[in-house]
Amino acid sequence: MIHINNIQTLANQRKNLSLPSAAEITLNAEQLTLLPALIDPHVHFRTPGLEHKEDWRTAAKASICGGYTTVFDMPNTLPPTVTAELLREKKQLIDKQLAEAGIPLRYHLFFGADKNHLDEIPKVKAAVIGIKVFMGCSTGNLVIDDDSSLHAVFAIAASQDMLVAVHAEDESMLQQQKIKYSGHTDYSIHSTIRSPEVAARAVEKAIALARLYKTRLYILHVSTLDEINLIKAAKAEGLAVYAETTPHHLFINDSAYEQWRGKVVMNPPIRPAPHQAALFAAIRDNIIDTLGTDHAPHTLEEKILPYGKCPSGIPGIETALPLLLNAYHEGLLTLEHIVALTSTRAREIFRLPVNEDIVLVDLNKQAIVNENTLKTKCGWSPFVGRRLTGWPVYTILGDQLFNLSEIK
Ligand code: DOR
Ligand code: ZN
Repeated sequence: MIHINNIQTLANQRKNLSLPSAAEITLNAEQLTLLPALIDPHVHFRTPGLEHKEDWRTAAKASICGGYTTVFDMPNTLPPTVTAELLREKKQLIDKQLAEAGIPLRYHLFFGADKNHLDEIPKVKAAVIGIKVFMGCSTGNLVIDDDSSLHAVFAIAASQDMLVAVHAEDESMLQQQKIKYSGHTDYSIHSTIRSPEVAARAVEKAIALARLYKTRLYILHVSTLDEINLIKAAKAEGLAVYAETTPHHLFINDSAYEQWRGKVVMNPPIRPAPHQAALFAAIRDNIIDTLGTDHAPHTLEEKILPYGKCPSGIPGIETALPLLLNAYHEGLLTLEHIVALTSTRAREIFRLPVNEDIVLVDLNKQAIVNENTLKTKCGWSPFVGRRLTGWPVYTILGDQLFNLSEIK
């Protein structure tokens, strides 16, 4: 058994917990607070084909160190996950890597919508957490850029009671913007090209399709006030529309390009500061449901390439919880908001069964984000150097207790 004594609960009470385990462990948890383990509905762990950036051995350690025991992985791998057969092969590789890591991380996979493989969608209904639609090109070449395929995906999903998750950036607007700003070499042009209007146009379109076909719609990485307003109206209308934001859109704004250059290039891009305040307000107003880290590592060699060659994406699964807990201390979020964002809402939206996984956090621990202790294979973070208050200390996955200071 694992005995956890005198732990602080969210209801501000002290309690003793006993959890089933082969090991006999007793923790004096007086300094610690009990939270449900985190669920990350949006990661790119890079298997298959891109394992020089990350694999499930390194990513599983990074997840546990971040307090996460469940992740949903995206299909923009090499090859992309667009057939039932490719899905099966991907699962086998993941299971092998997790067994090698000795970490039975809970995971689900998104299926990639591809216009040449729409007939594969019903085949994978029971095996996937949802269908991922890239409405605009991002990392990899998965994209649905024509209306008839987009309509077909939403219709099939609704008929199969599958959820559609959208990367909402409008491809035709993106193409125009890229021509308009071609020749610009500063990394900050990324936020001009991928403007708030590009995101809003796609969100508007996705909501219209969800309304038309009665499809359950999950809008990934919401980053702007414009999107929030559209989602607020859709929710008020009673549509099954859910919204995710990310740690980088909450905690980084477009003033970061000067210092961090290619390291803060991601899609959708970082925004001017007022959008950050709007995101926090939307969490407090229950417009934003979840936080997905969009953990999307690329190597340092890739990220120092000039604008245009530097791939979009940043790691984030190890730093999300400390950033949120630090925001709690700053009065931006309550612990209840953090639990809703990182666990409860994802469990409801994606209909996950309940489990007993927990994370024990030291709300008063202060530490500086240090790249030498990161477990992600890419080995860097745009949050390096930030002093944060509130860190996970133990993560319990099933009957396994991980002391996070001992994970090598
Ligand atoms: O910045 C991003 N990186 N956005 C995406 O949509 C994909 C991701 C990746 O896979 O690198
Ligand atoms: Zn992503």
